[in-house]
Amino acid sequence: MATTGTSRTPLTQLESWKALEEHYQKTKDIELRTLFAEDATRGERFTTEAVGLYYDYSKNRVTSETLALLQKLAQEVGLRERIDAMFGGEKINITEQRAVLHVALRAPKDQTILVDGQNVVPEVHEVLDKMSAFSDRVRSGEWKGYTGKRIRNIINIGIGGSDLGPDMAYQALRYYSDRDLNVRFVSNVDGTHFAEATRDLNPEETLFIVSSKTFTTIETMTNARTARAWTLKALKDETAIARHFVAVSTNAEEVQKFGIDTANMFGFWDWVGGRYSYDSAIGLSLMIAIGPENFRRMLAGFHEMDEHFRTAPFERNLPVLLGLIGIWYNNFFGAQTVAVLPYEQYLKKLSAYLQQLDMESNGKHVNEAGQDVNYQTGPIIWGQPGTNGQHAFYQLIHQGTKLIPCDFIGFYQSLNILPPHHDLLIANMIAQAEALAFGKTAEELKAEGSPEYQIPHRVCKGNRPSNTIFAERLTPEALGKIIALYEHKVFVQGTVWNIDSFDQWGVELGKVLAKRIIPELQSEQEPELKHDSSTNQLIQRYRQHKNH
Ligand code: F6P
Repeated sequence: MATTGTSRTPLTQLESWKALEEHYQKTKDIELRTLFAEDATRGERFTTEAVGLYYDYSKNRVTSETLALLQKLAQEVGLRERIDAMFGGEKINITEQRAVLHVALRAPKDQTILVDGQNVVPEVHEVLDKMSAFSDRVRSGEWKGYTGKRIRNIINIGIGGSDLGPDMAYQALRYYSDRDLNVRFVSNVDGTHFAEATRDLNPEETLFIVSSKTFTTIETMTNARTARAWTLKALKDETAIARHFVAVSTNAEEVQKFGIDTANMFGFWDWVGGRYSYDSAIGLSLMIAIGPENFRRMLAGFHEMDEHFRTAPFERNLPVLLGLIGIWYNNFFGAQTVAVLPYEQYLKKLSAYLQQLDMESNGKHVNEAGQDVNYQTGPIIWGQPGTNGQHAFYQLIHQGTKLIPCDFIGFYQSLNILPPHHDLLIANMIAQAEALAFGKTAEELKAEGSPEYQIPHRVCKGNRPSNTIFAERLTPEALGKIIALYEHKVFVQGTVWNIDSFDQWGVELGKVLAKRIIPELQSEQEPELKHDSSTNQLIQRYRQHKNH
């Protein structure tokens, strides 16, 4: 049984935590300039490389002692046992009594992973095979629309984990995609999203993939019904639906109720969390776009990182190091956010994807035992691809009053070789990390001849920490490794904070209240409003001005 909140010593009373607090008091003012000056080999020593990812953590405000203490913390919170519990199929999502087995989605065929005594790996591969066969049929043109036309447009309808993952990964792996296919993602319940995504498409050539773990999510069901009406308006025959709609869900009953034949349904399981699901059947749109072989290469990349995470000693374990260094800033320096800054245009949706992964997982205020925590939990994740962010918000990171640890992600090789673009891109990434760490002093500015009145404004104090992650090229494998790295980083941090990283009760309240307000906006009669005065007023104003 995993160590849970009930049996664990409160985090702030652990020996390693207290030692870290003391250590923080002693080292909090230490400068990266000094650390680098004192150790000429720091830039080599404070790095590690595994599964093709090079991780440079030298530009962090850590010493060897900090890292040793953080690793001690990982031991004290039972991280090793927790990792084993997750990979072993234990029900570590305690509030929903579920196993947490996204790692099974990328397990090779011969691996055994038991949930309630049953090996789930064969089922995973059955679904993968079914997805592959379907993808091949669509890609080859064998799967035709109702009027016999080839499918040219794939629209994934989903939201949250049923949208962000496939969309992010499709953008990331676009280089590998079939350019004759139009792949789009509709998520927002705002009808504009659907209208704009379909306005130039022919329903005869359009396949909708309705992706929803529960198949009850209001946004997705509303968009799916609109898609159905859009299709029927053109094709005028209910039987056309079978050629133009497939479903991805764990809920066969609801899929059937919606009118999609379960023969056209791709399943997954309650042990896959929505935000951990794009490598399940939720990735069907991606698989159609890039082909089954590339999809499986991506899974192999995920698996390599899983194995590294499961087996590597903490001092060389990428997700463990990334997670622990994040704890250092979040809990000791009081940093509120982390900027994720990929220097790769194809990763333009990575930060949006990581927002859900991290913030829905670790945005919790009670520990596993249900007690309020007396320490900070998950950070705010945000970012933009470089170099765009440099001309927008980097100013605040360089000279503002907030400490914002950054993750830089780059590749040695570009997929689109257009000299000198890639050299300029990567020069910028490396330069930003350097500028953040070492800044520019008043003396240096004086020596360069800056006018006196400008000097205080131009000083960059430096000492702004960052991680740099470098990989060869953005391949499907590399994407799998990077995503698994962040999944496990979130796991490491959730383990330290002793929270359930796999539920998301906080999003429920808003959903319930919206359901109550919908009829109040729509009823013909003046509704009896029993909200607070602000909510009542907003509802009334909307009723008066809406287009009927
Ligand atoms: O908003 C919460 C949430 O449950 C997410 O966790 C999930 O990814 C999303 O909604 C979509 O859920 P579903 O796949 O069931 O439609």
